[in-house]
Amino acid sequence: MALLIRGGRIITPTEDFTGDIYAEDEHITRIEPQIDPRILAPGAEIVEARGKYVFPGFIDPHVHIYLPFMGTYAADDYESASKAALAGGTTTLIEMICPGAADEPFAAFELWKSKAEKLAAVDYTFHMSVVRFEAHVRDQFRDIVKAGVASFKVFLAYKGALNLSDEHLFAAMRLAKELGVIVTAHCENADAIDALQKALLAAGKTGPEWHGPSRPPVVEADGVHHLCTFAELLGTHVYIVHTSCEPAVRAALAARQRGVNVWIESVIPHFVLDETYAERPDFEGAKFVMSPPLRAKANQDVLWNGVKSRDISTIGTDHAPFRVDQKQMGRDAFTKIPNGIPSIQERIDLVHTWGVVPGRMGLQAMVDACSTQAAKLFGLYPRKGAIQLGSDADLVVYDPAYRGKFSKECSYSNVDYSAYEGWEQKGRASVVTVRGQVQARDGEFVGMIGRGAFLKREPTH
Ligand code: URP
Ligand code: ZN
Ligand code: ZN
Repeated sequence: MALLIRGGRIITPTEDFTGDIYAEDEHITRIEPQIDPRILAPGAEIVEARGKYVFPGFIDPHVHIYLPFMGTYAADDYESASKAALAGGTTTLIEMICPGAADEPFAAFELWKSKAEKLAAVDYTFHMSVVRFEAHVRDQFRDIVKAGVASFKVFLAYKGALNLSDEHLFAAMRLAKELGVIVTAHCENADAIDALQKALLAAGKTGPEWHGPSRPPVVEADGVHHLCTFAELLGTHVYIVHTSCEPAVRAALAARQRGVNVWIESVIPHFVLDETYAERPDFEGAKFVMSPPLRAKANQDVLWNGVKSRDISTIGTDHAPFRVDQKQMGRDAFTKIPNGIPSIQERIDLVHTWGVVPGRMGLQAMVDACSTQAAKLFGLYPRKGAIQLGSDADLVVYDPAYRGKFSKECSYSNVDYSAYEGWEQKGRASVVTVRGQVQARDGEFVGMIGRGAFLKREPTH
């Protein structure tokens, strides 16, 4: 299978030029100002990209697809999530494996992998959550790393569920350092949240608008500081997921100043939605409950500026899809609303519409934050996240002139609402390829279910 992408404006974090890209056998084999059509293999597909951008396939470093959580299961599977990702220009997903405390870690890894095999249309890999770390399970994490999963995930939040004790957190981070794997972390102080939740519920404050007050910014900054203290003691490399607010960003940057190897991820809902969405009446706010919660609007500038300055390395989604009927589980208590705002399809177009078009960030910063940095941090570069000879031909031909509206109607996710319903959309992926095969066109999935491959990764930290 051969592919020629002709005359597009090729954008990487360091380059911006017009040219042709040719791919054969799943890889990029030529990048030239103009490729002679006589060299094309018989049957090669030609994509005209004049007037359009050509980006490396986008990588979402933080998604949940198979997710038993808060008494229910996330609504997507790899088929719906892949279609949604591809329609929005994302070609690689990194999913969080989130087992229960009673589950065996290696069996959980195999279970999560089995959910992707046969259904994935994007390439995929995982972050392995450590939700317990007794001596007898530790060797299983070594085996999981050997099997190609070179990053851990820890939760400082969710007391009584995914939350890891300090003793186990310290030991898990020590193993991560020994193995050279990075630890991704949800940083919010679980005990503080638990106490605040109980006080709010006892005062009759049960609606979704109280989710935010139960997890204020200082609780997140405290979590970041705590994780970074352990990282400082152990030398472990850490990656703070879904950093939502100025105090948390500041805590991470202060640790970096002290020499801690810490990277920051923020996720698209925090860039474009604010706390007032979770305050919407008639339980509508439940659609906007995620953790950390949506914040005061002023924090959004901190996030955009952080991406522009590259203090914030990545923009993910934290796609965690729950239908409206699932959100209803928290009718009587906001603590029971399944947390998550689905965004897997909308991420890139939101970054383009709200970041690039108004000049908050440039195209090169967009590629860096939405593709290249994730590839570099998680051992996928330059196979992914790059437009280079030998890289996988994961490419996005993007039409910046497209105008439309975000809507549930256009979404492949199994969720029955869009957090961005009716918002103006500026730009859209025209053609999306995975290893040289066209998988999406103009917002439609046109590819092959099951084409997605598990990406084995080596420790790089
Ligand atoms: O609200 C969220 N973030 N839901 C998914 C679980 C997590 O904390 O990432
Ligand atoms: Zn989280
Ligand atoms: Zn998450």
